[in-house]
Amino acid sequence: MELFKAGIIGTGSFVPDKLITNKDLEKIVDTSDEWITTRTGIKERRIADKAIASSDMGTNASLKALKAAGIGAEEIDLIIVATVTPDMNFPSTACIIQNNIKATRAAAFDVEAACSGFIYALAIAEQFVATGFYKNVLVVASECLSRFVNWKDRNTCILFGDGAGAVVISRVDKKYGILSCHLGADGSGKDLLSLKAGGSRQPASLETIEKNLHSIHMEGSEVFKFAVKIMAAAANEAAKLAGLTSQDIDYLVPHQANIRIIEASAKRLGIDKEKLWINLDKYGNMSAASIPVALDEAVRAGQIKKGDHVCLVGFGGGLTWASTMIRWAI
Ligand code: UT7
Repeated sequence: MELFKAGIIGTGSFVPDKLITNKDLEKIVDTSDEWITTRTGIKERRIADKAIASSDMGTNASLKALKAAGIGAEEIDLIIVATVTPDMNFPSTACIIQNNIKATRAAAFDVEAACSGFIYALAIAEQFVATGFYKNVLVVASECLSRFVNWKDRNTCILFGDGAGAVVISRVDKKYGILSCHLGADGSGKDLLSLKAGGSRQPASLETIEKNLHSIHMEGSEVFKFAVKIMAAAANEAAKLAGLTSQDIDYLVPHQANIRIIEASAKRLGIDKEKLWINLDKYGNMSAASIPVALDEAVRAGQIKKGDHVCLVGFGGGLTWASTMIRWAI
């Protein structure tokens, strides 16, 4: 039962300094700046230094979100981290971030819903805050995809980048906050986007390494077709659950996988380009981190104002999809 309204009270993000341009990739695989730009919209992506892992980027984004929210780490009750690239299988990346930021009172766990992971984590956080179980929840998405890309596979290595985003979810005035969440999954598409080895089915072995099973595998055009269908449908569903329509969306922050997917979805929704935050040209696809990084940039650029209806929408491996409608509270 909803006792309190949960909303975002602070955002933060982090991307590594080092970048790889499309021109750099031309030297590694058989591709061209022209192909990558026209087929994806991506121009460059950030790559973490060897010493940096997902928890480090997540820690940095978290500290910025806490600062923006104006609360201390000791006030956080729960940390949820969305990632497909955790520091290790266990302990969770959330526990590592909890220790880094000294959120000593916080429970901590990870969520895995691929590129939809941030909105899945947000929806979980909302339940805890709305029921009064917790007051302040830190939701983080951090991805170090460069470690899991096959740099010889032009189908995938051009797409991904590293980065992290974070938000603080807390009680807000009843007029504002998270109005709806819509989550979905279709496991029949599990093989379309996957990292096959390193788990209990195919533990790491010389054979899995030789067969390149520790890097991302994707059936790009199948995922593309699914994405174009699901993005607009999921955004419409979040609007409907909030008692609104897509025409009420003041700002749309979509998952940043491919400019053609974003533009096709915005067209279906009847949303103008000025109401969209697009940063995939700079960062590529950062999986779960794409949406919170874009959201943080849009907020800091003054594009999202108090009272705006903000829709976040994503899709990804699993297959999964997720959307949320928020009346911006800050
Ligand atoms: O966030 C998770 C979800 N992931 C996504 O959303 C990705 C969704 N899919 C996509 O964005 C697109 O499918 C891609 C960008 C991955 C590929 O674009 P596409 O228009 O679907 O191309 P395609 O896979 O159908 O490939 C067309 C051609 C092929 O050559 P042939 O068979 O026609 O001779 C590919 O081998 O383009 C070739 N190709 C490339 N050429 C130059 C594939 N990758 C490259 C490349 N450079 N990097």
